[in-house]
Amino acid sequence: MIDVLRSIYQYCDDHSKGLDPVLSELERTTHLETANPRMLSGYLQGLFLQTISVLKKPLNILELGTFTGYSAICLAKGLAENGKLITIDNNAETLAIAKKYFTKAGLNTKIEIIQGDAVQVVSGLDISFDIAFIDADKENYLLYYHLIKPKMNKGGLIILDNMLWSSKVLEENKDAKTKALDNLNTFIQEDKDVQNLLLPLRDGLHIVTVL
Ligand SMILES: C[S@@+](CC[C@H](N)C(=O)[O-])C[C@H]1O[C@@H](n2cnc3c(N)ncnc32)[C@H](O)[C@@H]1O
Repeated sequence: MIDVLRSIYQYCDDHSKGLDPVLSELERTTHLETANPRMLSGYLQGLFLQTISVLKKPLNILELGTFTGYSAICLAKGLAENGKLITIDNNAETLAIAKKYFTKAGLNTKIEIIQGDAVQVVSGLDISFDIAFIDADKENYLLYYHLIKPKMNKGGLIILDNMLWSSKVLEENKDAKTKALDNLNTFIQEDKDVQNLLLPLRDGLHIVTVL
């Protein structure tokens, strides 16, 4: 099953267009210079985020968890003419890589980096968003959801990454992180203020439309 899935993903990669030399270089750099390159969104998910953003033409995007900037670049490509993406991370080392690649991508004026703890930074933001991408520490996802939902414009999208957590949400005995993500999937499913789609892309993207 895993082999078939891997082949399917390769096939989808091979039949999806959107090659961006800056993103390819960033992926290579991330593998060479960081300890956990798996955290990067990658080709298919990046193209998916870009497609959503291009369709939505958001004025403001919020991202929690910049890492080396791959998903931020993909999302920022769809920004409205005067749009802006705010991305938050507490790791100075990986943010330095992100900063370099935002400039290489010609997006440094559209992307604002805030270094700090996401809970504190988000609590202090007085901006409304059209897209929010939650991709930081999993234990705080429910808190992030509660903090961000009131800041979303009507019809805005909250996209949460890793919501299948390597299929661990299916396991009988769940560890703390898995329980937190599983509970949040259920919480969103029961939230009357939203429409939602849990998509089995990569590690699971939960796409929440705020009504
Ligand atoms: C999965 S990576 C993000 C990947 C990135 N969105 C991408 O697709 O390329 C998660 C990031 O969240 C950051 N992070 C974890 N906990 C955080 C917190 N409490 N506040 C801010 N950043 C945090 C980590 O430093 C890490 O860079």
